[in-house]
Amino acid sequence: MSLLATSGLARSFGGIRAVAGVSLALERGEIRAIIGPNGAGKTTFVSMISGRVQPSAGTLSFDGEDITALKSWERVLRGIVYTFQITSVYRNLTCFDNVALAVQRRLSKDRALWRQPDQSAIADGTRAALRRVGLLSRADELAGELSYGHQRLLEVAMGLALQPKLLILDEPTQGLSGQEIADFCTLVKEIARDATVLLIEHNMDVVMELAHRITVMNNGTLLAEGSPDEIMANADVQRAYLGT
Ligand SMILES: Nc1ncnc2c1ncn2[C@@H]1O[C@H](COP(=O)(O)OP(=O)(O)O)[C@@H](O)[C@H]1O
Ligand SMILES: [Mg+2]
Repeated sequence: MSLLATSGLARSFGGIRAVAGVSLALERGEIRAIIGPNGAGKTTFVSMISGRVQPSAGTLSFDGEDITALKSWERVLRGIVYTFQITSVYRNLTCFDNVALAVQRRLSKDRALWRQPDQSAIADGTRAALRRVGLLSRADELAGELSYGHQRLLEVAMGLALQPKLLILDEPTQGLSGQEIADFCTLVKEIARDATVLLIEHNMDVVMELAHRITVMNNGTLLAEGSPDEIMANADVQRAYLGT
């Protein structure tokens, strides 16, 4: 059974068909890249998976359960975590406190309401997530004072703190330097040891290094799907996207 399966997922905004019926299956442990030109519907598609956007048609199941009607927070509790294309950290809180909020959210799901959260468990989980993305040394810095690229990494730490089964990353390397991109690739491979990763990415070097399979979107539909080699050799993809 696939971890995630979408069937005919569609969403229109006014007259625009942003996503026009996409059926896709993700296997456990895979790193899947979604590529495609701006406006192809990539963000809208993953937003329907995270629950931020409601589909106009279609269904989706996760871990064998139909989740089409679930709210985004109910999907987070089931292990679907989405880091935003637009930075969404609390700028006036430290890196530590941003991540601690996410850890607290995860721990509180297993805890009776009247019990105090375990402060040392929160602190341990927070430091572990910051260490994984390389931001532990910046734990006490205000999130709003980080570079754009580091804010993106902080978001990933907030996502990891939720211990996702499926981590959705929307253009995570935007604004990162060359070395930061290399470190990020190492991190994603490590994350994929115990989670499935769905990655929207424009940087084709990152896609080729990380993706087990690639899905190409164009005009709200699936143009192609295959291994990196198959996608690079696909004539439709070259025409529509790679510009050759
Ligand atoms: N909230 C929205 N309201 C209106 N139109 C939207 C909204 N979100 C996306 N769109 C439109 O849907 C299409 C697909 O957008 P998007 O999913 O962001 O594509 P991508 O992430 O591939 O660049 C675009 O034409 C975009 O303008
Ligand atoms: Mg997008």
